[in-house]
Amino acid sequence: MKHALIFTAALSALILGGCNAEPKPVAQSGPVTSRGDANVGGPYTLVNQDGETVTQASFVGTPHLVFFGFTYCPDVCPMGLQQMGAALDELGKDKTKIQPILISLDPERDTPELMAQYITANGFPENLIGLTGTPEQVDVAVKAYRVYAKKVSLGEDVDDYTIDHTSYIYLMDKNGKYAAVFTKHDSPETIAAQIKPYLK
Ligand code: NI
Repeated sequence: MKHALIFTAALSALILGGCNAEPKPVAQSGPVTSRGDANVGGPYTLVNQDGETVTQASFVGTPHLVFFGFTYCPDVCPMGLQQMGAALDELGKDKTKIQPILISLDPERDTPELMAQYITANGFPENLIGLTGTPEQVDVAVKAYRVYAKKVSLGEDVDDYTIDHTSYIYLMDKNGKYAAVFTKHDSPETIAAQIKPYLK
């Protein structure tokens, strides 16, 4: 059982803080996301901040960064998106060669209109795209990227909830294939350096 214990500890370490004030280690069922996992990504159909349908095929030809979050997230998502913005700034003029994408984990509240406002926040990537959709559409994307996300009630009201979630930044190459994953511990410089070879 020693092996199982070590595995559990490693898994807990992988689950980065969610949007709860006190993120707890979470037992995850199903596939585990890890660095170097080539099975991340896949087909999805979502709606962008302008209400237009977008699929994974929409980004073929352009390397992209994918982050899952939600607009009501108090700190983790803004920090992740600012980290993304800082990393892209490190690329200088080459930052236009990569497409940053936010996919909502909260389709019930995150309308395209709300996403349109949110993606313009200070420090976020300038050309950030915000994708949302029906809960079913979002679920497909969540599963494709093996993201852990769980709705957590904060009170009696059905609208009073937050979402615990992993906060990785996924680098997908111009063919939409998984290339790398970054955590909150990666500096903008580190992320930029790993992105550079994919911009050619
Ligand atoms: Ni968040």
